[in-house]
Amino acid sequence: MCGIVGYIGTQTATDILLAGLEKLEYRGYDSAGIATVLEGEIHCVRAKGKLYNLREKLEREVNPAKLGIGHTRWATHGKPEEYNAHPHMDSAMRVAVVQNGIIENYRELREELKERGHEFRSDTDTEVIPHLIAEFLRQEQLANSQPTNSLLEAVRGTVNKLKGAFAIAVISADYPDELIVARQQAPLSIGFGQGEFFCASDTPALVPHTNAVLTLENGELARLTPLGVEVYNFAGERLKKYPRTLNWNPVLVEKQGFRHFMLKEIYEQPGVVRNCLEAYLDDNWNPADVTQSPINLGISPELYADLEQIQILACGTSWHAGLVGKYLLEQLAGIPTMVQYASEFRYAPAPLTANTLTIGVTQSGETADTLAALEMEKRRRFGQLPKYEPRLLGITNRPESSLGQLVNQIIDTHAGIEIGVAATKTFVTQLMAFYGLALDLAWRRQTLTATRMEEILVGLRQLPAQIELILESQERYIEELAHSFAETHDFIFLGRGINFPIALEGALKLKEISYIHAEGYPAGEMKHGPIALLDAKVPVVAIAMPGTVYEKVLSNAQEAKARDARLIGVTPMNEHEAAETFDDLLPVPVVEELLSPILTVIPLQLLAYHIAARRGLDVDQPRNLAKSVTVE
Ligand code: F6R
Repeated sequence: MCGIVGYIGTQTATDILLAGLEKLEYRGYDSAGIATVLEGEIHCVRAKGKLYNLREKLEREVNPAKLGIGHTRWATHGKPEEYNAHPHMDSAMRVAVVQNGIIENYRELREELKERGHEFRSDTDTEVIPHLIAEFLRQEQLANSQPTNSLLEAVRGTVNKLKGAFAIAVISADYPDELIVARQQAPLSIGFGQGEFFCASDTPALVPHTNAVLTLENGELARLTPLGVEVYNFAGERLKKYPRTLNWNPVLVEKQGFRHFMLKEIYEQPGVVRNCLEAYLDDNWNPADVTQSPINLGISPELYADLEQIQILACGTSWHAGLVGKYLLEQLAGIPTMVQYASEFRYAPAPLTANTLTIGVTQSGETADTLAALEMEKRRRFGQLPKYEPRLLGITNRPESSLGQLVNQIIDTHAGIEIGVAATKTFVTQLMAFYGLALDLAWRRQTLTATRMEEILVGLRQLPAQIELILESQERYIEELAHSFAETHDFIFLGRGINFPIALEGALKLKEISYIHAEGYPAGEMKHGPIALLDAKVPVVAIAMPGTVYEKVLSNAQEAKARDARLIGVTPMNEHEAAETFDDLLPVPVVEELLSPILTVIPLQLLAYHIAARRGLDVDQPRNLAKSVTVE
């Protein structure tokens, strides 16, 4: 939530900051602003709404400044108005700050500062930061006539007074060669160029300039000057830190001819599923060799030893992936598994269970609730009897994220970065990680025969081509079908068993980008209440894949039809019974039920996408949302 950028070097700062904000706009987009140091003054320009409003304002001026900070906002404290947009400044307008996060003790700090004569101009929590820095600078100047390390020290003094999660970038008109950044529970990386340095909340803003990136850890701050970068901890000790090289291609963060990132990312799914298969499946597996698992996730045996239970913590779409994971882990590997919303688990965790693996699932690797839930679990298990000690595993496409710093091990889902706010390719690859994990555990616990294992592996290998087939054969049809729903107000999605989470995911995709009300239910639950909603105006999408619950889903669909609902079926291409039941079909290739979620979700993503696009909505940046939810 919120994106921050900073630049110090030899180029025009505003161009670089604007380009960086463009790459971070997915983190929030209700206002934006830039501050630079120019001719001994801070020059600050802010605008309400999307970034193009700020761009328009900046185009009207010439600003050769070589030092600056920028921000794109997702409002937490204070309405999305220009006066609440970052950067914020102190009363004398000598210090400017951008922040991502929440300052929990801002009210008391604000009162203290007001008593000392500071004037506030916004409703935000952030505004206390420049005032505090200015206060520290003033006190230091009173003590020494010649300020030395002052800006760094003033920021250090300030961050030690702040409570909450934050990442900040700071400039001052009195320090025209310094950019100070600090991190506490919100992401911040520094990019190293030739005589120029960058900072950003996320690496897409850095990769067009450099691959040499240093990710700050919690409790660290840094001073960037044209000569280099110095890193300190909040206690003021200098740290030795070196950048690592990212092997990222900046093209990944371009639309490459697609109308929206979301559509591009839907089309990337065959490729990313292939990446997972290449990474996880051992091509040389010999079923007769009892020492060799068919799956290679690189997980150390201690995480798996004597496993009795798994708990999965996640939010939103990642939570849906966790529900599919639960099905697989229980049905294939026979391990009792519970899935919890991270935001609920944090404040009401289940009693401690022995030999438990805790899995955090997150595409951004930065979701505050998921990180906090994992941290809490780590803390409460630490120092307990060995069987209760924390074992933490992360599933993410961003192994370099905060999640990577927190857990013992990561399964990289190889999806690369996702820009569209609605998760698509990251969801499908999270599912792939769960197939890998469940099969690896099934092999270790010998819960599957070699023949069954081989059957599943063969099925998995067919998935990329099957997704391609859906995209090639269905997209045009789904686009046309979507047009007939552009004015619909409510949708119901039904699924059972392993496809129940896909019904939830189909409903979430639709509501978040099209703003149409949609609910997902286990098909068998409909008659216990939701059926009262049905009439000819409420379409019902049912996922009906042959297997354990096929006939049941068809019966539930019939019940909806009897209430005049228009029925749309996600069902295999050759199913005649289903063809007679449904008014409209979203066919998928024939696939066994266990593997079907990877295919059934694809038409639902396309349906949501085309309905939203038809309604003329901003598919990649839906209102009120952000790609990376770094606040509670
Ligand atoms: C929906 C969506 C969100 C995220 C949720 C968790 O399309 O993307 O529901 O799944 O905010 O985010 P991560 O996976 O980054 O923890």
